[in-house]
Amino acid sequence: MSDTSKKTFIVREIREQFPALRQQVYGKNLIYFDNGATSQKPQLVLDAINKFYSKENANIHRGVHFMSQKATTEYEESRKRIQRFINARKSDEVIFTKGTTDGINLVANSFGELLKTGDEIIISAMEHHSNIVPWQMLCMRKGLTLRVAPINERGELLMETFEQMLTKKTKLVAITHISNTLGTINPIKEIVSKAHAVGAKVLVDGAQSIQHLKIDVKALDCDFYVFSSHKVFGPTGIGVLYGKESLLDAMPPYQGGGDMISKVTFERTTYNELPFKFEAGTPHVAGGICLGKAFEYLESIDFDAAEKHERSLAKYAEDILDTFEGLRIIGEAKDKTSVVSFAFKNIHPFDIGTLLDKQGIAVRTGHHCTQPLMDFYKISGTVRASFAFYNTIQEIDTFVEALEKSLNMLK
Ligand SMILES: Cc1ncc(COP(=O)(O)O)c(C=O)c1O
Repeated sequence: MSDTSKKTFIVREIREQFPALRQQVYGKNLIYFDNGATSQKPQLVLDAINKFYSKENANIHRGVHFMSQKATTEYEESRKRIQRFINARKSDEVIFTKGTTDGINLVANSFGELLKTGDEIIISAMEHHSNIVPWQMLCMRKGLTLRVAPINERGELLMETFEQMLTKKTKLVAITHISNTLGTINPIKEIVSKAHAVGAKVLVDGAQSIQHLKIDVKALDCDFYVFSSHKVFGPTGIGVLYGKESLLDAMPPYQGGGDMISKVTFERTTYNELPFKFEAGTPHVAGGICLGKAFEYLESIDFDAAEKHERSLAKYAEDILDTFEGLRIIGEAKDKTSVVSFAFKNIHPFDIGTLLDKQGIAVRTGHHCTQPLMDFYKISGTVRASFAFYNTIQEIDTFVEALEKSLNMLK
């Protein structure tokens, strides 16, 4: 990412860039604490979506006309911006997907083809269903074994046990960078180095880290890193799979169709080079271009200050919530991002979420697509407040008052 020393971070100014935050729901000012599910979009992204469909809409990579060439250039420029943002070696290592889920399925289906009966894949106990089910399906199909690295009550990975699980049979470790339910930040560098020591590759689920941490795939040395645009202030329906070039080169295509081919005859098809080998069919052109705009926006703010602000919001909220009688914080890792999940013994999270909603506050309730994690904590779900850098301490104060009111109604 570019030098942040000259950039500012003033929450009031930041909020002005996000029109969705200026609305009222049920006559109350919206407080949006569901950023873990999806983030709101800055004006730069909204304008780019409008501009694309108003003036630039064209299919890419195959048109000779002006609009097609312009759209192609913008789409490929966006790929390069993403490459720079995550510090990939080449833009060929940036594959556009539909999102995190799609990226993981791509790797499971393509890299998975290289695996053999008896090989093992390790995931962790805090994974999102997207980083569980594709591996279960692959294991069923290919006779592989899926192993689950355990966590402690605080929601931290048990590193010693994880290390003991790694053997020559381990071919892949697929692990989340940040847990969407707990906020735990996993020590990816250490995980990668231990996995590499036994010859295993590492896929990092970056759905919750790309918007909170500075990502440097070279420094992390991960083999794959996947994320969704909509969680990092871009449009829905687009995401990225980063993969090391040598690996992507060795992997077979995931889907067949236009754009991913070099030459097709009825007898035989040869495939296009990276990144197009993995991008069959007309892509989400507007999405790709506007995801680039989301990164342009992030490059314009002081990202370090934004991250600090987010963490201070979470700490402030947690310190107050800790004083609530009967409230249990779920996820108390030492290294944690701006997610606060909590549960009460006799109150259903859905009831709290519904009452908060009527007071203009959007939180997520339920299992957050981490049912095995809910089983581990022996709960059916949590209320999750997940903060972005545009949230404020005042919003947390209002949320706390609204929560008190809701609890009084439910008792
Ligand atoms: C950790 C994690 N992984 C994967 C996903 C799936 O992302 P998407 O639905 O955008 O594919 C999510 C979404 O909440 C997530 O939080």
